[in-house]
Amino acid sequence: MNFVFLGPPGAGKGTLAAVVASRFGISHVSTGAIFREAIKNQTELGKKVKAIIDSGGLVSDDLTVALVQERLASLKTGFILDGFPRTTGQAEALKNFAKIDGVVNFELDDDTVIRRLAGRRVCKNCGKNYHAEFTPPKVEGTCDACGGELYIRDDDKPEAIRKRLMVYNDQTAPLIEFYGDEIVPIDASKAPDEVLEEFVSKFNLNN
Ligand code: AP5
Repeated sequence: MNFVFLGPPGAGKGTLAAVVASRFGISHVSTGAIFREAIKNQTELGKKVKAIIDSGGLVSDDLTVALVQERLASLKTGFILDGFPRTTGQAEALKNFAKIDGVVNFELDDDTVIRRLAGRRVCKNCGKNYHAEFTPPKVEGTCDACGGELYIRDDDKPEAIRKRLMVYNDQTAPLIEFYGDEIVPIDASKAPDEVLEEFVSKFNLNN
């Protein structure tokens, strides 16, 4: 199965995608994570996108589409596209190189989005997500999974959060109309286990 996960920043797309990918043996393709890895490793791509990402803007369609197309071509499994497409241009392009079986829209109000992003902590080493209030690590500042140090993403600062929400409403929310009847809504305000349960039930997936 190939999925697209749509929804505002901080809605829990990455959190659910990681669990679903591991449980069902499919690949989690997060454009944001690919860009962050490139920034961490100071590659040419990383240098090109760092300022855009830190400020909460969008990387160009051309660059992002080429990156996703290349990544999907290398996969031998189904996949979850987490954070792609994000513009109608990207969605049009995706039609030409992948078949999508389910488009999930994570529904969450702006106030909760802001609380989730403001409290997010990410492992520098393995990328696992935590939340200072909702899903804290056992030891503050340390990843339960690998012992790595937790940090706050540069784009989780208040000004960048505001910009990301604006960009989402302006450029990504129109994809809900673009996909129309294909959209499967998920109530992203529930606890992570309940969000997973709703996803599994809506797609009739077995464990
Ligand atoms: P990206 O990394 O994709 O950021 P995003 O879409 O803004 O999504 P987030 O990662 O912020 O949130 P999420 O929905 O995955 O939530 P999460 O699971 O972490 O993109 C970053 C940047 O890269 C973009 O701004 C852009 O610059 C660039 N980019 C990426 N893709 C692009 C594209 N296609 N085109 C152009 N540019 C692109 O959860 C958030 C927090 O809430 C965590 O702390 C988590 O622990 C907690 N949480 C999660 N679920 C729950 C729950 N159910 N209950 C309570 N807490 C929860």
